[in-house]
Amino acid sequence: MTELFSLKGKTAIITGGGSGIGKAIAHAYSDQGASIILVGRREALLEEALGERDGFTIATDLMAEDASQTIFSACNTLNALPDIIVSAAGLNPRKHADEVDQETWNKTIHLNLSVPFFLAQAFAPNMKANNWGRIINIASLQSNRAFTNGIAYGASKGGITQLTRAMAEAWSKDGITANAIAPGFFPTELTAAVFDDDKMSAHHASMTCVGRNGELSDLAGPAIFLASDASSYVTGQVLPVDGGYTAK
Ligand SMILES: NC(=O)c1ccc[n+]([C@@H]2O[C@H](COP(=O)([O-])OP(=O)(O)OC[C@H]3O[C@@H](n4cnc5c(N)ncnc54)[C@H](OP(=O)(O)O)[C@@H]3O)[C@@H](O)[C@H]2O)c1
Repeated sequence: MTELFSLKGKTAIITGGGSGIGKAIAHAYSDQGASIILVGRREALLEEALGERDGFTIATDLMAEDASQTIFSACNTLNALPDIIVSAAGLNPRKHADEVDQETWNKTIHLNLSVPFFLAQAFAPNMKANNWGRIINIASLQSNRAFTNGIAYGASKGGITQLTRAMAEAWSKDGITANAIAPGFFPTELTAAVFDDDKMSAHHASMTCVGRNGELSDLAGPAIFLASDASSYVTGQVLPVDGGYTAK
């Protein structure tokens, strides 16, 4: 049974792997036996997150036009094309609809929605050749509901849920599943504005069934499930990991 959840012999690439949710998922995969490739801009952070674990880091800006090809080439050169892709790099500009300019909009949609697609597209041929692949996108509570100052972020995360379904439709016959995790509120750099505000943080905790906000360790089990053989007949789905926020 434990073999079902094993990631031995697998290689996982995790964007945003230097911090927060990406780092937590990367460590969970490494603990299950996977080799991990961590992608982000801050090299020191990536190296610290990798530590002594098996794998390597790619310090690059995913906003660059040819980022997916750069990453593909780096992996290919090292003969380490990934079996598992987690797109956790993201940004939330937290601007009101009246204030969002074109640049903010483009950057948010590009990093949160376009990069997960083009990165998966770059690695899909190899996954197809192996008849095995796992794509895990990161959705949000804002995939389904509007939060204050979330217009660009919410649009990108709404898009992620449909991108996930469309990826599943395109590639599942080739052994590649595509799913998303929709986290509730987890304390990371991205959510500092929420967790620095005790009232806001308590409000979100009270919105859950469990009665607390997320801890990064809560993501390990769901992320391992979606990356392993345990989920081979699960595709095109969004799994809320939100303490029941969306159930209430
Ligand atoms: N925390 C939550 O409660 C929550 C809830 C729902 C969804 N999410 C989603 O979870 C994902 C991870 O966010 P997080 O909460 O873990 O926040 P985080 O710690 O701030 O992670 C964001 C990551 O994205 C990377 N990144 C940002 N811009 C980049 C760029 N241009 N090129 C390469 N990497 C870039 C950052 O690394 P560098 O700055 O070093 O590049 C960082 O590691 C995001 O998609 C977010 O929307 C989070």
